[in-house]
Amino acid sequence: MKEELTTIRQTSLKEIEAVTSESELYQVKSRYLGRSGTITQIVKNLKNIPAEERSTIGKEANDLKKDLTAAIDNALQNIKQSKKLEHIEKPSIDVTLPGRKQLLGNKHPITLVTDQITQVFTTLGFEIVEGPEIELDFFNFEALNIPKDHPARDMHDTFYVTEEVMLRTHTSPVQIRTMQKTKPPLKIICPGKVYRCDSDVSHTPMFHQIEGLMVDTNITFGDLKGLLTIFIHTIFDENTALRFRPSFFPFTEPSAEVDIQCVMCRGAGCRVCSGTGWIEILGCGLVNPKVFANAGYNPDEITGLAFGLGVERTAMLKYGVNDIRLFFENDYRFLSQF
Ligand code: DAH
Repeated sequence: MKEELTTIRQTSLKEIEAVTSESELYQVKSRYLGRSGTITQIVKNLKNIPAEERSTIGKEANDLKKDLTAAIDNALQNIKQSKKLEHIEKPSIDVTLPGRKQLLGNKHPITLVTDQITQVFTTLGFEIVEGPEIELDFFNFEALNIPKDHPARDMHDTFYVTEEVMLRTHTSPVQIRTMQKTKPPLKIICPGKVYRCDSDVSHTPMFHQIEGLMVDTNITFGDLKGLLTIFIHTIFDENTALRFRPSFFPFTEPSAEVDIQCVMCRGAGCRVCSGTGWIEILGCGLVNPKVFANAGYNPDEITGLAFGLGVERTAMLKYGVNDIRLFFENDYRFLSQF
């Protein structure tokens, strides 16, 4: 029995020494010290050993048990330590992987186009002026020669706060507000939000407009044509054909709408231009003398040109966007394309 214990001691310690992982170590441990492990069985069977040998064998077996437990604990510490070292020496970060991309913000297409348009005019000496979005009937309609019962109000149905106070339906009221405060001559460009009771693929209840007003002596329709031609050739391209089509606005006389050659089909006729080859882009005209009078200017001394355009519409034509609602959905996949 004594020799047997010596052999067990030798082999078990050798096995512990050879172990390289925690799981292997636990296997060795259970083989010797587990419930049916070799040493556990020997201790259990001590009662069958002749009495004279029992105490020495018992002592020997217990010593072996203690030594093995200590050796196993020690081996476990070593394995844990070398694992730690391995982790430090061989970091789990793969420096060859591409880095995580930081998403950069960019200007919203409406802001972008507004900037582009206002820049064309500021380069030509126009000043940027803004006005309130909650507007009085007087500035939004009355002073612009649109009295209460005028049919032009039909196209300008809006959100009313009271009968006299509403969300402005266009940026034209800024013309009146500026003329009331400033002596002529005047060159202003007025970007901003406007509101109408409209909602479909090409209309949203809120959209953006840019208003232009130039007041001086001897302004002619030729000035208007020249100015808007420069504008369209800068925003689209120099070869874009345009035409002035007679129209009506209560605040200009004469009035016109400007069409540009369809940007989709280049004038051949398609779905976007309803087969005509032309697309309406803005309204304009020479300031109606009544508007000057309403704003406190003397219509006999002064002349002026005015125009107004929708920013969403311009952006849609410029970038080939076919649904206006895309501008307001804030989908990063859409916005990041500009
Ligand atoms: N205010 C007009 C609208 O919202 C656009 C417009 C047309 C403005 C002609 C002008 C203009 O200044 O002369 O429909």
